[in-house]
Amino acid sequence: MSRLKVLLASSEVYGFAKVGGLGDVAYALPKALRSIGVDARIIAPMHRKKGRKVGTINVKLGKRDVQAEIYLSRVNSVPLYLVGGGGYFPRDRVYGYEDDFERYLFFSKAIVEFLRRYNFWKPNILHLNDWHTGLTAAYVKSEGLPIKTLFTIHNLGYQGDVDTSKLNLLNLKEDITDLIIHNNRINPMKAGIVLSDAVNTVSVKYSKEIQTSEFGFGLDSVLREIKDKLYGIINGIDYSVWNPIRDPYIYRKYSTKTLERKEENKKMLSSEMKIKPSDRPLIGIVSRLTHQKGIDVFLEAIEEFLEDRTVSLVLLGTGEGYIENKAKAICDEFSDVVGISIKYDEVLAHKIYAGSDMFAVPSRYEPCGLTQMIAMRYGSVPIVRNTGGLSDTVIDPNENKNCARGFKFESLDVEAIKKALSRAIDVYENDREYWKILQLNGMRADFSWRGSARKYLALYKRLLSS
Ligand code: ADP
Ligand code: GLC
Repeated sequence: MSRLKVLLASSEVYGFAKVGGLGDVAYALPKALRSIGVDARIIAPMHRKKGRKVGTINVKLGKRDVQAEIYLSRVNSVPLYLVGGGGYFPRDRVYGYEDDFERYLFFSKAIVEFLRRYNFWKPNILHLNDWHTGLTAAYVKSEGLPIKTLFTIHNLGYQGDVDTSKLNLLNLKEDITDLIIHNNRINPMKAGIVLSDAVNTVSVKYSKEIQTSEFGFGLDSVLREIKDKLYGIINGIDYSVWNPIRDPYIYRKYSTKTLERKEENKKMLSSEMKIKPSDRPLIGIVSRLTHQKGIDVFLEAIEEFLEDRTVSLVLLGTGEGYIENKAKAICDEFSDVVGISIKYDEVLAHKIYAGSDMFAVPSRYEPCGLTQMIAMRYGSVPIVRNTGGLSDTVIDPNENKNCARGFKFESLDVEAIKKALSRAIDVYENDREYWKILQLNGMRADFSWRGSARKYLALYKRLLSS
């Protein structure tokens, strides 16, 4: 068989537009696929002009014709097609506009037109990601394009659904339209799920969880119906970006052999975040501050430890007002041991992974989660809720003492979090030797994209042979 060609479509690509982990995945996975012989390329919205114009295509939105401009660029050594035009993407933020549905409908349709018109390179697999590209699957099916589609669910909590007044923009046949309506709303996430040839989530555990009403966000019955084509493949992290040996952003580089240098990162981070340097554990958080992430409950749970000055806390994130305010209040109250930064800051994120002793990810749900893997890579021991990808990547001493690399708690409540924190603090304070084993186990674990890229390749091949 000739070289497999994969076009990966994503609303975010690190370096061009990133809000969360989707940007990291779209940046890293295609490169990992190329390293195992796949001709992988990316298509994404053009937020800023970067690249050379290669063509213009016409996109129909209802009765309107909108010109999509296609630019060719490169990211992480991978060809990247950028879709501009219509004034849809060069804005201050990536998401959060009233016309988000229309913006990604335009992108979804442009992808299909790109596949139809672009003759120099014909992919065999179209790899769609999250609701922003879910409707693409509907157009591929309705137009009978000779390509197989894989739809990856990164986060079921965002489905892009809108009321049916937007139906006139779709230009889809009725039989297909019927399939993408859910609870009387147009649902792009559902479109991706029911109309793609295969579906996967970004961890095995999450692929099971979403089939239950607790985690299904109203689509659990739809997911149970397609369970025969539903897979789970864990994400990796890009070792060229996340590596304490070579990281240009951290204060002092270190490895498993020079772990003592991590201390200097802790000192410098404490000074940058204006908290007292301390021998007590420093807990880091880097997160979108949304309900999903459970930071609100974590901040309640940690209060007692801050009062006693048992730990310090450094938090970087932006998001919903009530969580930001809670973080600010805690910082005001315990300013000598709490440093917060309410913004998006790549460099500071690296410094927190390197400078923290522990890293908290108390998510209500977590499809994969990259931050706990990055933390482990940097010898910061994660304390996580036992859900989704957190469950699949962190090993607790109670599960396996020798292989452990973090601490887990079951339910998202203050008592459960306090218990996990106490267990972690106890080891940190009283058994430094075992603490180091936890750190080294995390740093040595393989979270690279190699294994996962192979799993994607196997899935693509399976699709092509079916
Ligand atoms: P999600 O995609 O749900 O936000 P992930 O754990 O998959 O969660 O990915 C989060 C990514 O975004 C990580 O690379 C993390 O370092 C980064 N990140 C999150 N918040 C910030 C922030 N405020 N500043 C810098 N990086 C951030
Ligand atoms: C989503 C999920 C996160 C996952 C990321 C990349 O944003 O919330 O768990 O790691 O996508 O797949």
